[in-house]
Amino acid sequence: MAAAEARAEQAITRSNPFDLPESALRRMRNSKWSKYGPEILPAWVAEMDFAVAEPIQQAVRRIVDAQDYGYPMRGGDKAGVAVAIAFATRMKERFGWEIDPAMVLPLADLVQGTYAPVLAFSEPGDGVVLQVPNYPPFRDVIQTTGRKLIALPMRDVGSRFICDTAEIANAVDARTRIFVLCNPQNPTGRVFTREELMAMARFAIERDLTVISDEIHADLVYPGHRHIPFASLGPDIAARTVTITSPTKSFNIPGLRCAVLHFGSAALRERFLKRIPARLMGDPNAIGVDATVAAWTQGQPWLDAVLAHLLRARDRLIARLHADVPQIRCHAPEGTFLAWLDCTALGLNTSAFDFFHDKARIAFSPGEAFDPACSQFVRFNFATSMPILDALLDRMTTSLRR
Ligand SMILES: Cc1ncc(COP(=O)(O)O)c(C=O)c1O
Repeated sequence: MAAAEARAEQAITRSNPFDLPESALRRMRNSKWSKYGPEILPAWVAEMDFAVAEPIQQAVRRIVDAQDYGYPMRGGDKAGVAVAIAFATRMKERFGWEIDPAMVLPLADLVQGTYAPVLAFSEPGDGVVLQVPNYPPFRDVIQTTGRKLIALPMRDVGSRFICDTAEIANAVDARTRIFVLCNPQNPTGRVFTREELMAMARFAIERDLTVISDEIHADLVYPGHRHIPFASLGPDIAARTVTITSPTKSFNIPGLRCAVLHFGSAALRERFLKRIPARLMGDPNAIGVDATVAAWTQGQPWLDAVLAHLLRARDRLIARLHADVPQIRCHAPEGTFLAWLDCTALGLNTSAFDFFHDKARIAFSPGEAFDPACSQFVRFNFATSMPILDALLDRMTTSLRR
């Protein structure tokens, strides 16, 4: 092997300080490693197989060691204010988006952050526009609150997925109230460009829609792409946008339950609070608050290292799929640690999820959870170490050779 090739191979396979071995992962009581049996390798729910950033560990340890379990105050204020300030500071530093911490409502999770604005800004029977496929709970929110789903298809145009609001022009009517935007998009991994976002903004303004912009994957963006907060596009779009995000995906702390909801104007916040009292939203707990603040203010060196690894993992996944199973279609995600695999050309006689579960002993996320029409798709979570990623790819290729 030439020296350059050997170096490249070493770079691909070298381990990271944050890698956790399979034995440690199998002892975890998280969803990812608990749901399926010991025979199965999990690559489904959006949790990473990595040890968290040391500042987060220290923040959690500080609370536990001191048994500091009272109603949390930080800097003379309720602890949620510290989260709002850390969020505002991070948005300015990373995305040049200037916001007022007073417009931030801390909460426990983003599904709650989707339900609440849907309830506040629409009535049963009203329409909600949602990119499809999408994160499954969004569909649940629309169904369980009795709203009408208006699907905005994410179309595969050869090199990536795009959505065009012109396609749903006739489906949107005076009772359509909300547009749920997910950017970076789960599961396609798209990071929408400024032009695409501007087109969505014009659509929201023309149709007088409130936008719920889920930006939870904003920190997980690969070179060549840039995350643009939707509400940063201008004051008129901010005034109709509720942004929801949390550090749970990028810093791997989903069990600590802390998130934020940001209103793009005081009027929007007032309208919301008239329908949904702040007390109904609850407060995040002290450990979640301190872990979030530590992640957002001190976690970037860890995240930079994780992103460098995720980029190598993404490229390895795409290269191996193209080489070993070219029938599977997959565009390199521009953001997120999730790849959306179109297995239609394999001609399976079961769902793609069932095939890989039964024949490869892998648990992906089933495509039909993201769109009932997508049973021949699976979502592949590649936030794992290179040895586990290789084991997943080996299992896939072996199952298909049989
Ligand atoms: C797009 C999107 N929104 C919201 C969530 C929920 O995040 P959490 O439960 O940590 O609030 C997820 C989790 O995977 C997600 O991918």
